[in-house]
Amino acid sequence: MRIHRTLLGSLALSAALSLSAQTNELVIQTKKLGAEIQPTMYGLFFEDINYAADGGLYAELVKNRSFEFPQNLMGWKTFGKVALKDDGPFERNPHYVRLSDPGHEQKHTGLDNEGFFGIGVRNGQEYRFSVWARLPEGGTAEKIRIELVKTNSNTEGQPFAKQELMINSKEWKKYQVILKPNMTEAKSTLRIFLASKGTIDLEHVSLFPVDTWKGHENGLRKDLAQALADIHPGVFRFPGGCIVEGTDLNTRYNWKNTVGPVENRPLNENRWQYTFTNRFFPDYYQSYGLGFYEFFLLSEEIGAAPLPILSCGLSCQFQNTDPKAHVAVCDLGSYIQDALDLIEFANGPETSKWGKVRADMGHPASFNLKFIGIGNEQWGPEYPERLEPFLKTIRKAHPEIKIVGSSGPNSEGKDFEYLWPEMKRLKADLVDEHFYRPESWFLSQGARYDKYDRKGPKVFAGEYACHGKGKKWNHFHASLLEAAFMTGLERNADVVHMATYAPLFAHVEGWQWRPDMIWFDNLNSVRTVSYYVQQLYAQNKGTNVIPLTMNNKPVTGAEGQDGLFASAVWDATTHSYIIKVVNTTDKMLRVPLTFAGLKSKEVLTDGTCIKLSSLDLDKDNTIEQPFAITPKTTTISILKDALDVELEPYTFAIYKFTKTTK
Ligand code: AHR
Repeated sequence: MRIHRTLLGSLALSAALSLSAQTNELVIQTKKLGAEIQPTMYGLFFEDINYAADGGLYAELVKNRSFEFPQNLMGWKTFGKVALKDDGPFERNPHYVRLSDPGHEQKHTGLDNEGFFGIGVRNGQEYRFSVWARLPEGGTAEKIRIELVKTNSNTEGQPFAKQELMINSKEWKKYQVILKPNMTEAKSTLRIFLASKGTIDLEHVSLFPVDTWKGHENGLRKDLAQALADIHPGVFRFPGGCIVEGTDLNTRYNWKNTVGPVENRPLNENRWQYTFTNRFFPDYYQSYGLGFYEFFLLSEEIGAAPLPILSCGLSCQFQNTDPKAHVAVCDLGSYIQDALDLIEFANGPETSKWGKVRADMGHPASFNLKFIGIGNEQWGPEYPERLEPFLKTIRKAHPEIKIVGSSGPNSEGKDFEYLWPEMKRLKADLVDEHFYRPESWFLSQGARYDKYDRKGPKVFAGEYACHGKGKKWNHFHASLLEAAFMTGLERNADVVHMATYAPLFAHVEGWQWRPDMIWFDNLNSVRTVSYYVQQLYAQNKGTNVIPLTMNNKPVTGAEGQDGLFASAVWDATTHSYIIKVVNTTDKMLRVPLTFAGLKSKEVLTDGTCIKLSSLDLDKDNTIEQPFAITPKTTTISILKDALDVELEPYTFAIYKFTKTTK
């Protein structure tokens, strides 16, 4: 009996051992087509934080071009006889400068603009200088000379780009000329001289690269817009974030101020000027040159569904505890009208009031708006009581539009627990969740959405990024854990319909918030590892989830799963299976893949493996080393329906096979 027990024990032990040798086998059920993956699944979140718009994506190189900053000459240096005036041609930007003869042959009148951390220009490229001007004292013509000079360096003597412009009208008129620098300079100064003896008025002084994204005047910086397009995003959320709410209601993002001629779009403060005083940027304002028309156009051009977020009448609740800082529910009328008008601006016929504004700006066709978000990070009963009238009115007028509500600034906890049921009660179509969380959170949330109610609102993971504990900057480990977590988004594509990493952009000299997806200086940009994670998901999203299990359980990094996360999709357009596996550990793991259910005539071909990997967890791509960590693609082949995979430590891997029939 004793012996028998020992024998049984050792049999059980050897069974367990052989089981554990099998534990990492990932079984993909090829025949079980699951939830459809929404085209909007992986997208982009844009906010003018870290100089993302003015000084970044928006290609304008002149700061304070309309002289409307509260300190009207901020960003400018004047010399000679320059006077500030305030009765200009653009009623919402009334200031301009008057340049007059300084009264001596050897003296000069003019002004310099410092740009955003300098003005970055490239040798041989064309830059369009434009200005509104007039001759206030009449006469037939006066002249200005426009130069690009090295900042803080008069030693070189010569400007490296120079042009003259004749101003020939008493009436305000737009003039333009092309500058072609003969050197590349990241930090130049734009200098304008009065080059004749009379008096000239200048307003809305602008300098743009001619070669913008898609060649649009008032366009976008090409490398940055291209980086967005290269993701293949499904949704584009704009204009934020906290700037939607405003520090106060006056400074909330008001989309109506951002459309129509750029010269007459009023300036708005940017809260990211002062939110963190250790990263204080007193010259950070929103020119609204990149406004809602440009956002819609960009969405269209990068193939993403536009998702505008509007104020719900609550100014930032972090910054305002006084209820009077918010719009009373009974006074929400104009805010709700803003939402209705926005739908008309985006989709309405040219004959409608706001549809005409869009058409006059150059886009007669609809922008095909399907989603609208009301409120950003709101919380408490104040939010649902305001959201409700928006929902009722928008639903009635536009049942075709899906409405996104918010679950507040936290990924769990009291406010979150309160708001989700409220969003269900109000029947919001999607709920925006935000999580800037440390490594431990990302490692523990692989199964987050497995238990979500399948009948309630869908999830929009609208702002998220792994913020390393004590390491709130871009580094490989954080991105790897984002990739791991995202397997859970993908497995739950029936309930998660959108996900957007945040924030998107940061200027290396002007950031307020880290980590970010794309960094740039005045001339160059760099795609971080987090960028590549997003890109790999977006470009390999497939059309349907298919079950993938290890020991009959989803692979969520749970205990006993060796730090593995995995998901699988079928892509009906390319007839391929796409498997994503993340090894979050420092060990090489054996992870055999088995494609169950293939018919005898079905074969898997064209195997590709893409890996994003680094043993240096603190490393990331930088402006100096932009390609330090990038996805590496190899071809692989499979024996019938099984692939024996040895997965390196700290690796995000994608395996793809096309299914063909013999
Ligand atoms: O993405 C940066 C900020 O984080 C957003 O403005 C806000 O919504 C969140 O708190």
